[in-house]
Amino acid sequence: MKTEILKMLREAEGYVSGQQLSQMLGVSRTAVWKVIRQLQDEGYQVEAVRNKGYHIASSPDVISKEELESLMDTEWAGRNIVYYDSVDSTNLRARQMGDEGAPNGTLVAADRQTAGRGRRGHAWESPSGCSIYMSLLLRPQIAPDKAAMLTLVMACSVAEGIQGCEDVELKIKWPNDIIINGKKLVGILTEMSTQIDYINHVTVGVGINVNQTEFPEEIRKTATSLRMECGHTVRRAPIIAAVMKRLEENYEIFLRTEDLSGLLEKYTAMLVNKDRDVRILGAKEEYQAHALGITPTGELIVRREDGTLENIYAGEVSVRGVYGYV
Ligand code: BTN
Repeated sequence: MKTEILKMLREAEGYVSGQQLSQMLGVSRTAVWKVIRQLQDEGYQVEAVRNKGYHIASSPDVISKEELESLMDTEWAGRNIVYYDSVDSTNLRARQMGDEGAPNGTLVAADRQTAGRGRRGHAWESPSGCSIYMSLLLRPQIAPDKAAMLTLVMACSVAEGIQGCEDVELKIKWPNDIIINGKKLVGILTEMSTQIDYINHVTVGVGINVNQTEFPEEIRKTATSLRMECGHTVRRAPIIAAVMKRLEENYEIFLRTEDLSGLLEKYTAMLVNKDRDVRILGAKEEYQAHALGITPTGELIVRREDGTLENIYAGEVSVRGVYGYV
């Protein structure tokens, strides 16, 4: 009922009367009042005016199930939400839920992670109250070797979602880091459970630095947050809802061709590496090349110094700028 009341208060132009709320929800006015009190206790500024009703003046920066549900404007992505105040890793939870049969589009979100995981076995710093940690469970009916492209689909969706909420210019560092002013704002970790030729489920985990004002020494030079870049605090829940909306659209475009051809233009427009010199750090060799763009299947196209063209597969290598991170 909290979700519905939040939704109705948000959608109303001015005040909504207790009677309207109670009639629409089929509950007593006392029951409505109790929920309003709960919302006020949770930090929602709900004004109650005699003979007028209720009006929501502001919402706290929470990402509870009810808050997310009241903002979600999708058909399936983020429609089944599981929220934790604290959890080991949303990716681990989403994978487990996937094994237990949770539906396509299940979104696991947490305020804090105690064992947040990054790529290549790194940890992902996950303090409470300032960041987005979320994992989306997908059940695509595609061949397992196509699943890596989902990371790029998510990168595109996160960048578009954030840009829809805040006036910032984001770039994507291939394959999936999101960059603002040369620093990392978002990391994405995609994990998959498969049979030989069949995907059981894919978990796409997203960490977005939202309101941090400082970072641990090791990443201070390369990491940043929306707050540090925009100069004001940013509410997390609308960003999550906006990312889900974009993901739903982009995922459907992806599924039509089972590749990135329908997203190539917008991904390439955000690709920070395009037309730049990069260092390719592979397991066997390290070399400098010039990045030209990506293929419809998500590989980075580079020109080596001897002029030969090469397609680089994500997962095999790391890409750095010649003079630093980007
Ligand atoms: C990277 O190393 O760039 C990827 C970081 C991914 C972090 C997110 S936070 C939510 C989800 N849960 C995890 O444990 N990791 C991902």
